[in-house]
Amino acid sequence: MDKIVIEGGSRLEGSVKINGAKNAALPIMAACLLLNGPSRIKGIPNIVDIRTLLEILENLGGKVNRLNGGTLEIIFRDGENEDNYTAPYELVRKMRASICVLGPLLSKRRKAKVSYPGGCVIGERPIDLHIKGLKALGAQIETNEGYINASADNLKGTVISLKGKYGSTVLGTCNVMSAAVLAEGTTIIEDAACEPEVQDLANFLNKAGAKISGVGESRLTIEGVHELHGVEYEIIPDRIEAGTFMIAGAITRGNILLQNVIAEHLTAVIDKLREIGVEINTDSNTARIKVNNLYHPVDITTMPYPGMPTDMQAQFMALLCTIEGKSIITEKIFPDRFIHAAELRRMGADITVEGTCAIIRGAPSLSGTHVMVSDLRAGAGLVLTGLVANGTTHVHRIYHLDRGYEKFEERLSSLGAIIKRMPE
Ligand code: EPZ
Repeated sequence: MDKIVIEGGSRLEGSVKINGAKNAALPIMAACLLLNGPSRIKGIPNIVDIRTLLEILENLGGKVNRLNGGTLEIIFRDGENEDNYTAPYELVRKMRASICVLGPLLSKRRKAKVSYPGGCVIGERPIDLHIKGLKALGAQIETNEGYINASADNLKGTVISLKGKYGSTVLGTCNVMSAAVLAEGTTIIEDAACEPEVQDLANFLNKAGAKISGVGESRLTIEGVHELHGVEYEIIPDRIEAGTFMIAGAITRGNILLQNVIAEHLTAVIDKLREIGVEINTDSNTARIKVNNLYHPVDITTMPYPGMPTDMQAQFMALLCTIEGKSIITEKIFPDRFIHAAELRRMGADITVEGTCAIIRGAPSLSGTHVMVSDLRAGAGLVLTGLVANGTTHVHRIYHLDRGYEKFEERLSSLGAIIKRMPE
């Protein structure tokens, strides 16, 4: 197992290219199960979660060719592997997002047996809305011995609401939309998630022959079609990776240029950084982050898109820990997603967690120490804090980071950070 070791204090300068979005790539790759013939998908990041899903797809009979420069060819053909519909525990347990094969499998192979993904360290991760949506389309679903067993002779379009206690569901919308594209008749999904990653899946499916309208809105209308064909497609840039590098620039009071960014996907993040006092200039596919010496504390509430993403909460917490004054973060998507607060406290941060709120009293200086990563974005937050902490920070359990950031430490190092990966 490796750790990341950081000497704090370097100001980041230079430029960095943002990769394709992990959370768009995963449901799009799973949707290849629905297609007849090869698809070429560009901009796939080389990270552990992608490799896990590829194993699942290969296990389901897909052929995968890794082409140059982050392009994958994924081939499924109608009529092949119809009796192969299981996503086993050994693979699903590695990544909760494996649930995104449920809708495509059920639609295409009429049966799906997917290991129940369970909870995780960011809190409860129910899938009741996925099941509700698929049942509304006509599926029979039961859970047995840790597996979701779904079957349907014929999926039929209907009206479905995916509204949950904390808003809609991203992967639930992906699953129900993927199942509805080949269903008989018209499906209307009310309270659909509007995240750019859901839009990217809809655009991919439409390019493959689906008829989805209302893309990016909370009401999706899907007219069922008989067949989908392979396509060439490029994944959108990863807005969370971009936001993470923006905060790397801001926290080190640096000056960095991000390439391959859709600023519109980051409106809430950019607005909040500007409120803090960070200067950000954007154009059609870049964003420049510049130093501004006087930063202000702010209040942040995570919300579904276009609000502040929960996947940026830990990184913002890291930044707010370095800004004098009181900031409050309210987590409205995953109320328990504050495990990183305890690790930040070990670095000298003053954070009090009260229910779904974290109250941060920024300290002028933090100190390096040993910290543990609890989940992907928490890990990003800890590495960002290490960039400015006095002395050496050892970030342990970085396999969480490797799930979602490609060569994170190498790219930070190319911007001037003193950071390296070492064996434990
Ligand atoms: C996606 O997870 C992302 N994962 C998460 O990113 C992200 O944090 C999350 O959306 C919210 O934006 C992928 O896209 C692979 P949800 P997902 O279903 O779809 C509740 C990362 O770090 N809910 O939109 O699983 C749920 O408890 C990861 O890259 C139900 O109540 O999240 C939560 O409160 C972590 N019932 C809210 O909805 C359900 O059936 C949103 O969860 C499903 C969800």
